[in-house]
Amino acid sequence: MIYEEVIELAKRRGFFWPSFSVYGGTRGFYDYGPLGVLMRDNIVRVWKEEYMREGAVFIDTPVLAPQPVFKASGHIDRFSDLAVECPSCRSKFKLESVLKRNGIGKVPLNVEEANGVLTSVEVKCPECGARLREAYDFNLMFPVQGKEETLYLRPETAQGIFVNFRLLNNVARNRLPMAAAQLGKGFRNEISPRQGLIRMREFTQGEVEVFLDPERKEWKEIPDYEEILFVPNTGRPVRATPRDAFETGIVKNKALAYFILKTHRILTSVGIEKGKIRFRQHEKEELAHYASDSWDAEANLDDEWIEVVGIADRGTYDLSRHQQFSGQPLTVTVDGREILPCVVEPSYGIDRIFMAVLMTSLYTRSNGFRVLRLPPHVAPYHAAVFPLQKKGLEERSRQLFESLQAKDPYIYYDESGSIGKRYARQDEIGTPFCITVDYQTLEDDSVTVRFRDTAEQVRVQAKDLLESSDLLSFL
Ligand code: GAP
Repeated sequence: MIYEEVIELAKRRGFFWPSFSVYGGTRGFYDYGPLGVLMRDNIVRVWKEEYMREGAVFIDTPVLAPQPVFKASGHIDRFSDLAVECPSCRSKFKLESVLKRNGIGKVPLNVEEANGVLTSVEVKCPECGARLREAYDFNLMFPVQGKEETLYLRPETAQGIFVNFRLLNNVARNRLPMAAAQLGKGFRNEISPRQGLIRMREFTQGEVEVFLDPERKEWKEIPDYEEILFVPNTGRPVRATPRDAFETGIVKNKALAYFILKTHRILTSVGIEKGKIRFRQHEKEELAHYASDSWDAEANLDDEWIEVVGIADRGTYDLSRHQQFSGQPLTVTVDGREILPCVVEPSYGIDRIFMAVLMTSLYTRSNGFRVLRLPPHVAPYHAAVFPLQKKGLEERSRQLFESLQAKDPYIYYDESGSIGKRYARQDEIGTPFCITVDYQTLEDDSVTVRFRDTAEQVRVQAKDLLESSDLLSFL
């Protein structure tokens, strides 16, 4: 299983590991280590730059919000999962996953339906095998008791955008359509956190709320693009370009089709293999309380399709609820019409994307050594500099390292162990190029550049590396 390999590599080399392990750990929390922080920043940069190109405005709002915000958004009353507690060992599970393990694919819609299933079929506890009998609603919100009021940790970053719609729209000079984005932590009291970064209780989202005229539901024309795999809830999987998917009615909303394309571009640009991405439409009963249609970008990880991005049609749900609960008008005037914008939301789970990139990039060479085939702009380091041997070469290598690092800080220096081991160490963390200083360097100032994916080596002049305006494009 690639998953286990990634978890082992991530901990040993410093991409991520379970938090609080000195105190025995707490499920659902992970720390990003030194390499993970660098790589996650690179993924976020791709996301951010793609939305800068769309003209999005960015915002950063608190992770805690007072109760009225989530009463209005519907999260306090409706953001829950069906759960079961084992009467024997008291373990708690998400009902859906227990039913799946017991071979029942259809997910009940409410407690009554769930209890009907649990009475008619013998569903066993995955921990101790006892029969499970009763389901209940488990709210995923984390309340925090303040001095005078209860606050809630946000389960999505989106609400920080909705409650600021008026101010943001003023900053954007009352433009519509308008896109506003926020990167930040979300918190969910998941019943069964699992699979490393896939289901955590604290995670990072990059969310974009695209405010549209409800009469047109249109952002921009859908550009030419390659065919991608769609799995509509009404029929068979089909390969189509996003424009064809809209024009033939597979995707009903033009803005949704546009952001499916955008999402595919972002996911492939950060290094998730094309063949491992699909877009699956939610079944009606799966839809979140605020959505009328939704497509998940899923990545195939160890033969399981995992949602990494959700692209939802939220209609006017959020703005109309905040307008109603706050008493503040949230309408805008477009061509003399007073309208409440509707919203299409691409919501990116940064940690799941990070995990998918690692899982789809890792491969083992025929000699048993592992390589992370990360795109150079996503790898934690752009290049590493080594002296072939320490003796007599250390000074020149350090000089070169320092000069390169002044141009591009993402350069690593290593002089310990054999050259083969040093190459292997860099391959395993995805460094695309290694630059080696050897005895010939002292004579003609040329160095060896070794390419991670092919292990091929070429000689270049050190001064050409230093004079290139961008090391990555030079190499
Ligand atoms: N604002 C919409 C929203 O939050 P979602 O589908 O619940 O929609 C969006 O979440 C993305 O956030 C998901 O596609 C997933 O990548 C990520 N996500 C959700 N819950 C998560 C969790 N418990 N751990 C890690 N990532 C999570």
